Amino acid sequence: MTDNRSGTAIRRDRFSDGPARSFLSSMEADEHIFAADLAVDRAHVVMLVEQDIVPPDDGRAILDALAAIENAGYAGLPDAEDVHEAIETAVIDRVGEAGGRMHTARSRNDEVTTCIRIALREELLAATAATLVLREVLLEGARDHLETVMPGFTHLQPAQPTTVAHYLASYEQAVARDTARLFDAFERVNCSPLGAAAFAGTPFPIDRERTAALLGFDGMVVNAMDAASSRDYLIESAGAVAALATTISGLAEDGIIFANRGFLRLDDAYASTSSIMPQKKNPDTLELSRGMAGTATGTLTGLLTRLKGLPRAYNRDLQGAHPDMLETVAAVAEATRVVAGALETATWDAHALATAADEGGATATGVADLLAANGVPFRTAHEVIASAAASGTLTVASIATAASEHLGDPLDDFVDRTAVATALDPTASVASRDSVGGPAPDAVRPALEQARAVLAADREDHETRERRLATAAEDLAREVTAIG
Ligand code: ARG
Repeated sequence: MTDNRSGTAIRRDRFSDGPARSFLSSMEADEHIFAADLAVDRAHVVMLVEQDIVPPDDGRAILDALAAIENAGYAGLPDAEDVHEAIETAVIDRVGEAGGRMHTARSRNDEVTTCIRIALREELLAATAATLVLREVLLEGARDHLETVMPGFTHLQPAQPTTVAHYLASYEQAVARDTARLFDAFERVNCSPLGAAAFAGTPFPIDRERTAALLGFDGMVVNAMDAASSRDYLIESAGAVAALATTISGLAEDGIIFANRGFLRLDDAYASTSSIMPQKKNPDTLELSRGMAGTATGTLTGLLTRLKGLPRAYNRDLQGAHPDMLETVAAVAEATRVVAGALETATWDAHALATAADEGGATATGVADLLAANGVPFRTAHEVIASAAASGTLTVASIATAASEHLGDPLDDFVDRTAVATALDPTASVASRDSVGGPAPDAVRPALEQARAVLAADREDHETRERRLATAAEDLAREVTAIG
């Protein structure tokens, strides 16, 4: 070792001090878990003193050293293999040999996974908050556009008229499930592995429930081998985040297409221009958000591949599992907030939407439905309208011609012509589709109300979790002060 400070935490005279030193080090990535590690150290030391494993004086000295280390910041840490070793070294540098008691009854194996869980739960809550914001924006947009008719698409072709409210509410429902998946992931992330030590427990009379409570965990990962080595909570979190990113990418893609067709005008704050083509207003925020699904998918795939077939218990492969993960959750949360902002500030062009809803035979299904409701088998009605549509434009006249050709009897024998004209009208067409979940304003209104209730409950759930973590942090600070 080049550094000859006395009392250095881990002896490096034989190991890890060669040419691979920087390769072995996770110091750069560990900045993400610096705050978490300080909390873990504090909770562990408080518990060690309470359990008479470490004398109160030593506990006090270690806790004071941790405060000084926190004040000095990440850049103030000594060079080390990882943040755990760096903090321990810094504690011993300040306290002397007694600082080495901090690592009693634990290992970096349970320490690091505890830190990851703490850092990750914060990121998950921030991502959850972003989904709540987006849902609010979608529901507000839906409330404002209950009657704004727009073309709905399948295969990117006009399919049936719908409303902007129905469209936005469809995405709100998808994002609500993303919220639920993030909550699910949080539940399993927020369990304490601390006290597992390397994987085989410890002979010291530790109190695992106490450290779990001090750190704001809702439970424990009990089996020590499971606790130290499992990272399926990362897979689950990455899965939830990839699902959210995929939802966002679809929403962003639609926004790009709608802007391109003149249905939606993005606010300048959410657009960019070209460095050469002065006329350009590009939907770059939406494109970056669409692309974020690639980052999230990469993180999930990378994790699954890294973790596949790892033998029990700890392997150093694990060191590379979380940095990507933490950055990806934060990036997807940001994309979610940006898409929410872009939608909130964008304006829908009701005229362009209505015109488009009247084009491309988007009301054809409604006319077929009308014939079917008046005695013509639906399949036959489908053929009649298909043939009318193939003639060029879908009008009462072209439908009448096709009807007498295919049905043998005049159209008027089946249905009133004014009813056909009504079915061809996009607004009337939308209003007629009032089945549960349909686009008719009368069907969307109660759906929005229900969505609002679920959003309010989710908001409360989110706040409760945040409050519990904040309270635990306050309790820990109080216990830290009381030691010695
Ligand atoms: N920096 C390491 C990690 O992130 C800490 C655990 C080291 N444990 C070990 N047995 N080498 O995984």
